[in-house]
Amino acid sequence: MQHITAADIAAFEKIYRLNFVNGLPGFKPANLVGTAAPDGRTNLAIFSSVLHLGSDPAVLGMVTRPTTVPRHTYQNIKDSGGAYTLNHVPLALTAQAHYTSANFKEESEFEACGFTADFRDGFAAPYVAESPLSIGLRLREEHPIFNGTVLLVGTVEHVYLRPEALRPDGTLDLVVLNEVAISGLDGYHEVLPPVRYGYARPGQVPTPL
Ligand SMILES: Cc1cc2nc3c(=O)[nH]c(=O)nc-3n(C[C@H](O)[C@H](O)[C@H](O)COP(=O)(O)O)c2cc1C
Repeated sequence: MQHITAADIAAFEKIYRLNFVNGLPGFKPANLVGTAAPDGRTNLAIFSSVLHLGSDPAVLGMVTRPTTVPRHTYQNIKDSGGAYTLNHVPLALTAQAHYTSANFKEESEFEACGFTADFRDGFAAPYVAESPLSIGLRLREEHPIFNGTVLLVGTVEHVYLRPEALRPDGTLDLVVLNEVAISGLDGYHEVLPPVRYGYARPGQVPTPL
């Protein structure tokens, strides 16, 4: 095993360190965050930091980079009563999804990257029409992290999904939606069907369902 210490990481060249540390969490989800400014201008950005924070009520978190420079996603969420959407990314849309991370100024990433902004059921943030699973969230809390990033905590208000993804037990079949996983800041992975296990109990070594 190669051993890398905090001192080694601190001494890495900047881009090398960024690449290295971004790979450490393992595979991550791929979500496009949709927002709108009060004047109606829309914004879309790929985020890989979405995480589950609780099911009852349904709460999801995501981490935004330091807000010391203007962040359209963060600003729009703050200015629109806390509304934002998460839109899962299928394999066919990875190039367009990655393109949303470019530093667009005035132009909406929806148009620049070839996505359709879809306003549904009176919600203030746009969904991605091309996404097979979309979630409408309301910002509930923000937690500053010591390094300048901010954990945004949102409650789930709406979910839209292609019905074939919803299994009878409530689990989601993300493979049938052709969804990808992300590694680092540049890898988009097609995924294979999972090996699934039931609720784990001591003394019972799990066997596939
Ligand atoms: C694969 C990938 C994952 C990313 N994940 C995040 C993330 O979780 N949080 C974040 O703040 N930026 C993330 N970014 C960077 C944003 O997509 C990028 O900063 C975007 O321009 C932000 O747009 P905005 O200024 O319109 O909010 C990621 C970029 C890539 C390529």
